[in-house]
Order: sequence, then C-alpha cells, then structure tokens
Amino acid sequence: MKNIVILISGSGSNMAAIVQASVQRRWAERFGVRVAVVVSNRADAAGLAWAQAEGVAVAVLDHKAYASREDFDAALQAQLDVYDPVLVVLAGFMRILSTGFVQHFAGRLINIHPSLLPAFGGLHTHQRAIDMGCQFAGATVHQVTAELDHGPILAQAVVPVLPGDTADTLGARVLTQEHLLYPRTIEDWLNRAAAAL
Ligand code: GAR
Repeated sequence: MKNIVILISGSGSNMAAIVQASVQRRWAERFGVRVAVVVSNRADAAGLAWAQAEGVAVAVLDHKAYASREDFDAALQAQLDVYDPVLVVLAGFMRILSTGFVQHFAGRLINIHPSLLPAFGGLHTHQRAIDMGCQFAGATVHQVTAELDHGPILAQAVVPVLPGDTADTLGARVLTQEHLLYPRTIEDWLNRAAAAL
C-alpha cells in the first residue's frame, strides 16, 4: 500500500474531506493508496482529534521546538520520509517551507490556497478580494514550488462574490468548494499516476 500524508495546522476540514473521499471512493482498492498519517505543527489543531477518531495515525511536530525554519523542515522531512509518501498534501498547513524541503518532495507536494491564484497569494485572501471589488473568488490547488503560492495550477473552483459579503461569508462559500475540489484533484492525480505506470 502506498502512502499519502496530510499536513495541517488547524481545523483540518480539507483533510477530513480527503480522508472521507479516500474511503468512500475506495482509493485503497482502486489506486493502492491510503492516507497514512496526519501531521500537525500545532498540538491544538482540531483536525487531529477527528483524524484519530477515524483511525488515521497522527503526529505533532511543534515548530517552536526548533531553532530555525531549516531545522524544523529537516525534522518534518525525516518524519514524512518514514512513510515514503507518493503525495504530500498541504491542507491548511500554515508554514512557509524551505527550498530544501520543497525540492526533496518536488512533483509530489501539493497545496490548496483560498484564492484564484495568481491573484491574492498570502493571507487575508477573502477580505482582499472583497476590497478589490472582485466579482468572483475561489480556491486553487497547485503544485508547491520554492516561491510561496506560485506553483503550477492543478485545479480551481470559482464562486461569486455576493453583495454584502464579509470575509467570513465569502470564506465559508469558498471552503465548501475546497472540500469538493481537493479530493477530486487528488483523485485526478492518482488516475494520472496509475495511467503512467
Ligand atoms: C483553507 O481555507 C485553506 O485553503 C487555507 O486554510 C484553510 C484551512 O482550513 N490555506 C491557506 O490559507 C494556505 N495558505 P481547514 O484546516 O479547515 O482545511
């Protein structure tokens, strides 16, 4: 069985959508893959309890315990390498990753970002879209490269920005789409990987 690993920092709702899809859509049977572990850089990430209750292994690697970004990333890399992952999925993992880490997992490292990249990389994406008068917003799944929020785009979901939207209402509309987009994009990736064998 091949391994997918998921990195989170918070509520983990995208991670939950992916784990659920992996079960409901029989990824183990169809692709020989499973979500092997959920790793968080924060011990209080709510998603950890959810994953544990689902029987998925969890691990915490507290970035504050490391002297530098490079030290933390090296420890994270070592932890993930134990699983020899076919895919490393960033799902609300709120850390900038160093070039060495990104290069090590190049081609098997993906992220979801809550905007229509290349617009609005970084933080506060929904408020910035509202402030700019955008009529559409959305989410992007992309390959991770050394430049933050800049890798090749794999898939996007688009939602309207409605009159009276706040960052919260827009964010909730986008998040609902993220939960459909991310599992679907991973399944497309698995299909392509299977076809390439
Ligand atoms: C999601 O909206 C995700 O797109 C965003 O954090 C949220 C995590 O929610 N990611 C980023 O902003 C990455 N730069 P979740 O923990 O419930 O999946």
